[in-house]
This record gives sequence, C-alpha cells and structure tokens, in this order.
Amino acid sequence: MKIDIAVLASGSGTNLQALIDVPEIRHRIALVVSDNPDAAALDRARAHEIQTAVVRWRDHADRSSFSREVADVVEKSGAKGVVLAGFMRILSPLFIDRFPNRILNIHPSLLPAFPGTHAVEAALELGVRVTGVTVHFVDEKVDHGPIVAQEAVRVESTDTVDTLHRRIQEVEHVLYPRIVRAFINGDLDGQERPR
Ligand code: GRF
Repeated sequence: MKIDIAVLASGSGTNLQALIDVPEIRHRIALVVSDNPDAAALDRARAHEIQTAVVRWRDHADRSSFSREVADVVEKSGAKGVVLAGFMRILSPLFIDRFPNRILNIHPSLLPAFPGTHAVEAALELGVRVTGVTVHFVDEKVDHGPIVAQEAVRVESTDTVDTLHRRIQEVEHVLYPRIVRAFINGDLDGQERPR
C-alpha cells in the first residue's frame, strides 16, 4: 500500500523541489509544512498546487506545543509519513511517537560524524577528505536514528563551504527522491541498520 507524505521545510526547499520533480512522489505529497512563512519551499509547493501550512514557533510557549500543532496539521492532511527536508526546528518526542518509524531526514554529512546545523563547516574545519549525505529515520535524538542510505562526497583542497555544500546538495537531490520513493511504496520498514 502506498502512503501519502507531509514534507517539512524551513528554507529554500531544493530537496522538496527534487521530490516534486518526480511525478510518482509529487502525487503523494499531501502537505508542505514550514515554521517560516517566507520559506521559498512554500512557493515551490504552491506552484504545484500542493497544500501548505505554516506553524509559527513564536505562537507557541514551548517545543511540545509547537510539535503538537505540527503533528495535528500533518495528521489532518491524511499523510502517514513525514519527510524532513531542511526543517530547522527540533520536534519533541511527542511528535516522534505520533509517527513511529515514519519520519525521514536528510543530513549533509556521513552520520554519526558532524550532527547539527553546521555539518558542512565542521567537516571543512576538521579537514576530513570525505564527507557526504545521510538519509535516516528520526528518533528522539538530533540527527540520529536508523540509517537508510549514505553517499560519500570527496572534499577538495580548494573547497569552500559553498562549493562543498553545492556538491553535497547535488548528491542529496538524487538520493532523497530514490529513498522517498521506496518510503511511499512501503519498501522501508523503519528498522534499517547501517550497512
Ligand atoms: C540540506 O542540505 C539538508 O541536508 C539539510 O538542510 C538542507 C536543506 O536544503 N537538512 P534545501 O532547503 O532543501 O535546499
């Protein structure tokens, strides 16, 4: 059985665009949610007549209340799976419990190396020769949970944050649609382990 998804994005939404560009996935995106009313990701959704919702952080007293509203709008859309694509807010455990083994995230490093918001900068600063992209199921910890797929990206000696991030994103835009397609087709069970 195929499942519908909600995509959560805070920024430019290039990963969302890569998902929209695959018709099989686009038809399964029930909703795009952002915490940022100015997110270009929302414009990308609207351009394809995909339903959108904004849940503002500042309208909530705490993380639980924010997370509950996000979970409510996702559930109301009929989506059974959640795909994080540059969503910059940490969701509380109550959100994770509402969608067990049904939340995917993409992160611009080879986890468990360089979790957090500055993964590309951190990789460059440490001088690693290889970094990459991880797609994983989300658990209660940040940038943590069963790994579904990883791709390596070589770091060149001339790289800046911008050039490296651009090459990482090129990989993301191929990898995420591949994994999300399997997700909506029910071919991932949330129990994946690193391999
Ligand atoms: C991506 O690099 C992703 O790995 C990270 O946030 C970024 C989102 O970029 N989680 P975009 O909004 O999809 O362009």
